[in-house]
Amino acid sequence: MQYGYFDDEQREYVITRPDTPLPWINFLGCEDYFGIISNTAGGYSFYKDARLRRLTRYRYNNAPLDTGGRYIYLRDDDAPSPTSWSPSWQPTRIPLEEYECRHGMGYTTIRSRLNGITAHMRYFIPLGVNLEVWELKLTNLRPQDANLSVFATIEFCLWDAMDDATNFQRNYSVGEVEVVDGVIYHKSEYRERRDHIAYFACSETLAGFDTNRDAFLGAYRGFDAPAAVESGSLANSITHGWQPIGATHTRLRLPAGGSKTIIYLLGYHENPSDQKFDPPGTQTVNKHSVTPIIRKYLQEAEVETAFIQLQAYWDGLLARLQVHTPDVHTDHMVNTWNVCQIMAAFSFSRSASYFESGIGRGMGFRDSNQDLIGFVHLLPAQARSRILDLAATQLPTGGAYHQYQPLTKRGNNEVGSGFNDDPLWLVLAVAAYIAETGDWDILDQPVPYDNAPGSEESLYHHLKRSMQYTLDRLGPHGLPLIGRADWNDCLNLNCFSDSPGQSFQTTTNKDGKVAESVFIAGLFIRAARDMIQMAQKKEGESAVKAYSMAIALMEQAVWQAGWDGAWFRRAYDDLGQPVGSRECTEGQIFIEPQGMCVMAGLGIRDGRARQALDSVAERLATPHGILLLQPGYTHYYLNLGEISSYPPGYKENGSVFCHTNPWIMIAEAMLGDGARAHDYYLRINPSNREEISDLHRCEPYVYAQMIAGREAPTFGEAKNSWLTGTAAWNYVAITQWILGVRPELTGLRLDPCIPPGWNGFSVQRNFRGHRLHINVYNPQHVSRGVVMLKLDGKQVVGNLLMLEPDGADHQVEVWLGQ
Ligand code: BGC
Ligand code: NOJ
Repeated sequence: MQYGYFDDEQREYVITRPDTPLPWINFLGCEDYFGIISNTAGGYSFYKDARLRRLTRYRYNNAPLDTGGRYIYLRDDDAPSPTSWSPSWQPTRIPLEEYECRHGMGYTTIRSRLNGITAHMRYFIPLGVNLEVWELKLTNLRPQDANLSVFATIEFCLWDAMDDATNFQRNYSVGEVEVVDGVIYHKSEYRERRDHIAYFACSETLAGFDTNRDAFLGAYRGFDAPAAVESGSLANSITHGWQPIGATHTRLRLPAGGSKTIIYLLGYHENPSDQKFDPPGTQTVNKHSVTPIIRKYLQEAEVETAFIQLQAYWDGLLARLQVHTPDVHTDHMVNTWNVCQIMAAFSFSRSASYFESGIGRGMGFRDSNQDLIGFVHLLPAQARSRILDLAATQLPTGGAYHQYQPLTKRGNNEVGSGFNDDPLWLVLAVAAYIAETGDWDILDQPVPYDNAPGSEESLYHHLKRSMQYTLDRLGPHGLPLIGRADWNDCLNLNCFSDSPGQSFQTTTNKDGKVAESVFIAGLFIRAARDMIQMAQKKEGESAVKAYSMAIALMEQAVWQAGWDGAWFRRAYDDLGQPVGSRECTEGQIFIEPQGMCVMAGLGIRDGRARQALDSVAERLATPHGILLLQPGYTHYYLNLGEISSYPPGYKENGSVFCHTNPWIMIAEAMLGDGARAHDYYLRINPSNREEISDLHRCEPYVYAQMIAGREAPTFGEAKNSWLTGTAAWNYVAITQWILGVRPELTGLRLDPCIPPGWNGFSVQRNFRGHRLHINVYNPQHVSRGVVMLKLDGKQVVGNLLMLEPDGADHQVEVWLGQ
């Protein structure tokens, strides 16, 4: 069953009923101020850091689902016994006669009708400012005038979301607000060390307001039935501690057929620390610099202009790569939503969504590096600074903090380091950046280690240390030691955790001189191939030789100890026993090394890559995607760690862990099987799963981190949507390997590997200042093989385009055939 549809022209996903299986959300904001909004206006907002600068409160895990949001109530003041409802359905959940939510690029609209009143709400964050706009347009469809009360509410979070959810003995006493000229200012903790406030403003004269939650809701009531909405008047309460909220009341008389637009602003503002108060010496918030911003955006015309600017911004981003293929699901994802999801993952890493609380996790080192590979063509300058930020958290050993805090950009000590794959992802990200931009200069940028001034070395040296980090940590079989874990955070081979509540991420590990990772071996080789090309530019032959030698030795180790006969093994545990081998009773085959080793080029010539991928097809592929491992672990293994803490079929223990699926798509494309590559692509493509939304449950327009695996009772059910490396990798798999328009360090490779049934497809793409119009023809219905390539009508030898830097538009024609 479907709960909506794709509106391709508007680039929106349209949700046609409010009771979706789970809240279906959107992300607002692309600079410093962000919001998450569900299809019923739930969600929360924050400035830069979802933990340390949280503006509004949200309760995960609550019943009913998705409480806390940007709520509006309408009250029919004429009715004999006044009725009220929420035009976004939540929180009152009073049935609406019409409902439609449209999630677009950086905005969400909700339109509904009840009792002859239509409400149209538009939520977005204008570019260049730290506020969100809620624009509400009400229309009276009745034959007579309507007297309405409009209430708008938000619940302030006391900034630090962790503290807010735990430290009640203090927080119930620190809440403070000011209400001036109809604007509610939230200034908790401003009297001491904060230099920032939040505000909630309305374009209309207020009939009343509340800032104390109890005053608004009434004791023991919820947002579904506030006493103040029922009675039709607010108490003008000023909260002292407890729960500061912003609630406003506007009375309207709407003539028959008439409309009225009301604008609400929720914003964040900082004052210089020596100008916090006005007059100085008082405790009154200085509002000089914020007032003009509020005034400006309370005007309809300004809001419209800001919205047009936001749309133009997204037009520009999306235009950078557009495709037209015979497959609608490919087009849906590549042309809009996959990009939108990549932007969210780039902005928040894995920190804030409806599954990530914004509290526990900063920006992941490996995560952000992988996000970059799908992001770099969108905003190369931002990609560049992210790379430099990440590299600056690298440790002098070449290792990396697993996460850093977005506000401070410092490595997160609580989670520490020792995930031995981490540093290698930096190499892939930098290579992707240079391939896209041609900006080799980035390698010369001085970057510190652990942010310590004076420790700067060139980025290229950072990459060398990344590589050396692996070589300094080889195990008994000559394979890389796994450390705390590699890509699979839950394969904790040195952890041996036996007490409940210990964190698999941070519990002190064994020194770990035995457990090795075949996956890191593959990743190392994959990275070393890029390093060779960079070394050629930076150092010359001797460095090139050194990396070639390192590749050769690593390959040898893989074939000697990492090959299981029909697939790549996963690892060796602390006892030196193989993991992911037919010798094991459970967890005989894992997806990760099959993908990574083939992507590294292992076994392509001698057929072993084919064999590994056939094993994947046989043992791991399901109609809902490719499983992470088989068979799932049925009980907890001390020597394997968190992976075996999950019931079989969930998360790392044998779900379809979507992030890894594109690695197999890429591997299949490398081997020339376009039908299989695209078939795998479709199995997890959310648009292709739209019709099974009752089973899938998550949004049909973005990837989820996992889909429950074959052994799970809920096989096919998705979880953890939005913030996952799946977004970037699927984008790379489809655009660069299946459609085959692939930036390489030396130029743009054209090497499609498509289902043979396709007649062709086209791609419009920006590349190093050029605009390329690429048409691919497949008259002989092959999967792969470029027989002719033309640039502006002239034949090119081979399939690599090296363009003169003339910044011009170019026609590229590609003929596939035998
Ligand atoms: C999850 C992993 C995640 C890790 C780190 C684990 O519980 O299963 O997917 O990467 O936590 O937060
Ligand atoms: C999610 C984490 O964010 C990512 O870094 C990790 O690779 C996967 N889980 C697999 O464990």
